[in-house]
Amino acid sequence: MTSARPAPPGLADGARRVLLANWTGSSTVPSPGLYPHQWSWDSAFIAIGSRHISPRRAQRELETLLAAQWSDGRIPHIVFNPAVPPTAYFPGPGFWRSTTAGAAAGAPRHVETSGIVQPPVHALACLLVHRADPRSSARHGFLARVHPRLAAWHRYLGRARDLGGGGLVSVVHPWEPGMDNSPCWDAPLARVEPVPPGTFHRADLDHGAASDRPTDLDYGRYVRLAADYRDGGYADYRDGGAGSAFLVEDPGVNALLIASEHALAEIAALVGADASVHRRRAAYLTAALVDRLWDPAAGLFRCRDLRGGGLIPELSAAGLLPLLVPGLPREIAAALVRTACGPHFGLGHTVRLVPSYDLRGRAFDPARYWRGPTWFNVNWLLERGLRLHGEPERADALRAAALETAVASGFAEYVDPYTGEARGTRDFGWTAALALDLAVAADQTP
Ligand code: SER
Repeated sequence: MTSARPAPPGLADGARRVLLANWTGSSTVPSPGLYPHQWSWDSAFIAIGSRHISPRRAQRELETLLAAQWSDGRIPHIVFNPAVPPTAYFPGPGFWRSTTAGAAAGAPRHVETSGIVQPPVHALACLLVHRADPRSSARHGFLARVHPRLAAWHRYLGRARDLGGGGLVSVVHPWEPGMDNSPCWDAPLARVEPVPPGTFHRADLDHGAASDRPTDLDYGRYVRLAADYRDGGYADYRDGGAGSAFLVEDPGVNALLIASEHALAEIAALVGADASVHRRRAAYLTAALVDRLWDPAAGLFRCRDLRGGGLIPELSAAGLLPLLVPGLPREIAAALVRTACGPHFGLGHTVRLVPSYDLRGRAFDPARYWRGPTWFNVNWLLERGLRLHGEPERADALRAAALETAVASGFAEYVDPYTGEARGTRDFGWTAALALDLAVAADQTP
């Protein structure tokens, strides 16, 4: 039997305040200054928390995102708010030009979006939002409406993005796995010719310390990759696209897809549709994940560089995220827990929350975005994974640390893994939402 500590004072009120301030009326911005539009995986995590404030608002959050889905099934990583000035965020709608450049690929006409995607955590979010208030969900037909869209999203990933041919989904831009400047991308990105400095203006540096953000050189490469994809009409390789210079299989993206396939099976069963297709897909993807990315010597999953580099040697928290996968072989789950608690990630020893990157890695930086800092979504996912695989004490300790750190840091975007010092922006949407979700769960743990 484990016992939960009460959430720190100010957590629930603080989280509600952030989520209310960031709500636009139809969705929630991650941060009004740094990220003033709707982001795909942010909205999924935000809905997981805001379901405890208003299940209807959480449903609306997800349905606003899904309304911007392309007809090929992709869910864009940003849905732009036309009321936000064009210079407030880069690269904005004038860069992506989805309604024209993306027309052939199926971009919607009524809204401007980006053309790349983010990790598929949406089916899991929809299921959790439904569970917060099944009667309201049923009364409003929430699952019946989202089910076909989620199924089309997963079909897109399986059909257009199995670019390695081994069953796993590939990403074509470092923004797609969501861990933009992870040291895992250093080698694959080194092959990408950056656009010349001075050809674009970074709005992100108006809102925070440059030392917390990706470098200008990284940005030059991000812009090149996105512009090339756009100029090819956002066509994926299988659909006649040229193929990205950056092509990677990421264990985090694939683990989230598997968790979401399990969730979609439950959603399908609830709406009277075929659940077995999603269960089969989850089993198939789990086998492919182990086959293609598991590294038994390192005790974690690696990223695979499909442009020739093979398995990438850097140790990233993305390689621990498969702990979230139900049905992961028992010895692999046990090895992931050992790795999380070992010298490279230090959980429960040198640090209280899992950092984004190897504490002993050559590129470790406690401040710079995804090169070391601790992120709350990663830790929320690992908390779930620890609980799923029979580690309730470790999960409780991680949850308590996440709650304390979220409040103490002012709901920071990310924190220094050793000191908990706030980094990036404050009052960050998913930090508030996921802390609220953990606090509610803590209340319900006997
Ligand atoms: N994370 C990226 C940014 O910093 C885009 O998704 O803007």
